[in-house]
Amino acid sequence: MSSAVDRSLSVFPAGCNGEFNLPPRLAKVIARGEGPQLWTSDGERMIDFSMGWGSVLPGHAHPAIVEAVSQQVARGSNFAYVTEASLALAEEIVSMSPACDQVRFSASGTEATMYCLRLTRAFTGRPKILKFEGAYHGAHDVGVVSLFPNNPPDFPECLSSSAGIEPGAAVNTLVAPFNDLETVQQILQRHGHEIAGVIVEPFQRCLSPLPGFLAGLKKAVHEAGALLIFDEVVTGFRLAYGGAQEYYGVIPDLVAYGKALGGGMPIGAYGGRRDVMEQVCEDRLGDPGYVWTASTLGGNPVSTAAASAALSLYREEGVYARLHRLGAYLRRSLASILAERDVTAQILGDGPIAQVAFTEATPRDYRSSRHADGRLARRLMLELFSRGVFLNPMGTKLYLSLAHTEATCDEFCGTFADAFDAVYRASESTHAMSS
Ligand SMILES: Cc1ncc(COP(=O)(O)O)c(C=O)c1O
Repeated sequence: MSSAVDRSLSVFPAGCNGEFNLPPRLAKVIARGEGPQLWTSDGERMIDFSMGWGSVLPGHAHPAIVEAVSQQVARGSNFAYVTEASLALAEEIVSMSPACDQVRFSASGTEATMYCLRLTRAFTGRPKILKFEGAYHGAHDVGVVSLFPNNPPDFPECLSSSAGIEPGAAVNTLVAPFNDLETVQQILQRHGHEIAGVIVEPFQRCLSPLPGFLAGLKKAVHEAGALLIFDEVVTGFRLAYGGAQEYYGVIPDLVAYGKALGGGMPIGAYGGRRDVMEQVCEDRLGDPGYVWTASTLGGNPVSTAAASAALSLYREEGVYARLHRLGAYLRRSLASILAERDVTAQILGDGPIAQVAFTEATPRDYRSSRHADGRLARRLMLELFSRGVFLNPMGTKLYLSLAHTEATCDEFCGTFADAFDAVYRASESTHAMSS
């Protein structure tokens, strides 16, 4: 019988369900997780700094989530209709999210942003979407346009980062640089009459918005008669309970949630102004302005019960102060490890998110983040992975959870220092050999 890893390399392209891009020698199969750690099918313990790409903010197998899921699954797992569980969650989202008069659920963040985009096109009768270069909004066509272009064209032209997208998607997606309000304003002045919506990750990948950027963006978008979408799939319930809206004090027209909302269970949610959301009412079916949305598993009672349990945890006293303190502790520790070694790097991040970028200046958008030494970052990520830190070496963002402590961060940082020294030594000897 071949090992679990061999079997996964055989049945999954690249041996996984997407995005990890690990060399086969590092491939793993996970058996279980608990708190901030997981165990592979070979019995190896790893500390987890990916946390299901940020979806498991409570920590793996949190008793409150396990209890909520177990109780609900025994009472039925899907009706594709409103349940007590989905109703309670919808009420909580509408009461905490100032952007949301109404909400609907999907099964993923991809669906949530896709519906937001469709709603803006239908509402304005315009064809185009403006997104920011380097931003990810899910696996749909707009999400993968200008995600990581190698030779980016002049703004606002886009470049698809995936083959196979519908050609119209590239024609109808315009691209702007994050944090550059002047260029955004110019694009909106020129193309505004065609732009239905502007979608933004308020905290793009690991880049913070400059002061005033999001408020200025909202004003410019509204002057152009378009709608502003906040993709809060990462920021929602993570930077603050009220997400980016609360944290940065800017309220969009539409908002998409996912990841931390479900506490590790599959979920997406999209909501916004009543007049925009009402376009999905099925009594309008057949009207030219009717917007189709449907998701067989969206809002299922197991996911929504888990989400309500997760939100109860997030509402506990001091949770966000703790997440921010821990994130700052991790970033400070990483900065001092690199400073001790005289390495030029920027430690990016906010709240429970961190990223190391080997570059001289703090990046503010996709193009300036490309000045960072991505090869060194990747070698370091793979070295960390081989030393028992579970992370996604393709996206170097590190996610903390409620289960992480200073001790988990110390363990990570000890491994980080050793991994960095090993990678650095290896690159020095390659250098010496080739000179
Ligand atoms: C900002 C952002 N939006 C949307 C998505 C898509 O969410 P999902 O993977 O649940 O479809 C992601 C996923 O990483 C994301 O980071």
